[in-house]
Amino acid sequence: MQKYKEIELHTDRLSLVRIKGETHGTEVNEVLCDTIHSLEPWIDWAHKKPTVKETIKRLRTQTDNNENFVFNIYLQAEKTNTLIGNIKLESTDQPKCYEVGYWLHQKHCGKGFTTECVQRLIKFARDELKTSRLCMYFADENEACQRVAQKTGFRFVKFVDFKSEIRLEWGVRKSHYFELDL
Ligand SMILES: CC(C)(COP(=O)(O)OP(=O)(O)OC[C@H]1O[C@@H](n2cnc3c(N)ncnc32)[C@H](O)[C@@H]1OP(=O)(O)O)[C@@H](O)C(=O)NCCC(=O)NCCS
Repeated sequence: MQKYKEIELHTDRLSLVRIKGETHGTEVNEVLCDTIHSLEPWIDWAHKKPTVKETIKRLRTQTDNNENFVFNIYLQAEKTNTLIGNIKLESTDQPKCYEVGYWLHQKHCGKGFTTECVQRLIKFARDELKTSRLCMYFADENEACQRVAQKTGFRFVKFVDFKSEIRLEWGVRKSHYFELDL
């Protein structure tokens, strides 16, 4: 397995800091709990406010694998940087293809921050990871997510059925699968 490497990326307004579940779970949990209602319709694990222990455990399922890159998103300010969300590149079973996933605190949505992050991660994936493809999945009705995908150059490939093991009440949901060739 690859050795873990600390990474910090910058955009005009944001810092993206690579995280580990065990060291960053507490601060992520605080922001998550504060915006859980805005995530609940779209993200299956966001069905209730998680405990710190649950957030650390969930993050570790991604960050214990050094092939995955999970970043905290910080809004840069003069004095302190504020944690506003999370974005990840997760390895897939396709070679040289990473899945992009993200969430943002509701009070920071609609300002182009996620688009800015995805654009920076496209550059990171292309230049540093030398990967050849990125992909995204999101629910049919998730128009904000679809706009981010379109604004960053992803193209619709197909619909896929998604059945959550956590949210049985969702039944089978129609999801969009988008890709970007690098
Ligand atoms: C998806 C999400 C990360 C987008 O973050 P964001 O920083 O607000 O995204 P941006 O500002 O970069 O772009 C959002 C775009 O969607 C548009 N949008 C937002 N809500 C919309 C809606 N209900 N219908 C149509 N368009 C919408 C915005 O107008 C903007 O497009 P524009 O620049 O053409 O005006 C954020 O809404 C979120 O955290 N949602 C809940 C979690 C989630 O859905 N995660 C993805 C799970 S797959």
